Amino acid sequence: MAPRRRHAAADPASTAPLPTGDEKTARVRAMFDTIAPRYDLMNRLMTFGLDQAWRSCAVGALALPEDALVLDLACGTGDLSRLARRSGYRVVGADLSAGMLAANGASTPLVEADGSRLPFVDGAFDGLVCGYALRNFTDLAATLSECARVLRAGGRLAVLEVDAPTSRLWRAGYDVWFNRAVPALGGALSDKEAYHYLPRSVAYLPPAPVLRRMLIEAGFSAVGIRPLAGGLSQQVVATRTGSR
Ligand SMILES: C[S@@+](CC[C@H](N)C(=O)[O-])C[C@H]1O[C@@H](n2cnc3c(N)ncnc32)[C@H](O)[C@@H]1O
Repeated sequence: MAPRRRHAAADPASTAPLPTGDEKTARVRAMFDTIAPRYDLMNRLMTFGLDQAWRSCAVGALALPEDALVLDLACGTGDLSRLARRSGYRVVGADLSAGMLAANGASTPLVEADGSRLPFVDGAFDGLVCGYALRNFTDLAATLSECARVLRAGGRLAVLEVDAPTSRLWRAGYDVWFNRAVPALGGALSDKEAYHYLPRSVAYLPPAPVLRRMLIEAGFSAVGIRPLAGGLSQQVVATRTGSR
């Protein structure tokens, strides 16, 4: 999918075209390998600690029986996995970046894999969570199809992504924070290039109606998309259709 511009340019470097195809996959992998050691710290600072509340919300939205088997796709350092385990679920984590997997402390089985080619049999999981990774996937449609394939019929999907507030005042503060302060903070504490890329990567996200249609085409129903914290984040839930 061609990247779509949703934010004002933060600096001249942000006018360079965003990568696509294999180049995007390679750059995303290398970027997360680089930022893995300080990834959790940056998340807490960028969101004033709200990110964990949003992850708890997504795990709660699965609403599966205890002991259900859940895939944490693009698990990164394992925050969602830990919360899912605390809810009584059995969890498997999968991620593209060996660096993020090395920093994963969730004590779950981990698999290095691309979301568009998952090494699991059909219907292997009861639930799937995926935090803040949609815009990083090179082939979103193929990845959503894989999510549907590895979920059993009736299985639940809960996805988190960044969003942009619709209220003008809230949006103005958000633009300054996300487009200016976060890249500066990331440059000081982690990796400058990665945290300049972060606000730009929002351009890869399809608008809600398109994402809803993609999920339905991939094999999901009961798709719900709602903003969290006035649109700082968004949560997507859906149910795997089918009879198997
Ligand atoms: C913003 S981090 C989110 C990590 C974690 N889910 C969280 O909530 O903190 C995005 C993650 O997506 C992973 N990722 C990016 N592209 C991927 C792909 N094609 N397949 C699997 N994981 C991918 C990255 O390596 C990274 O760990």
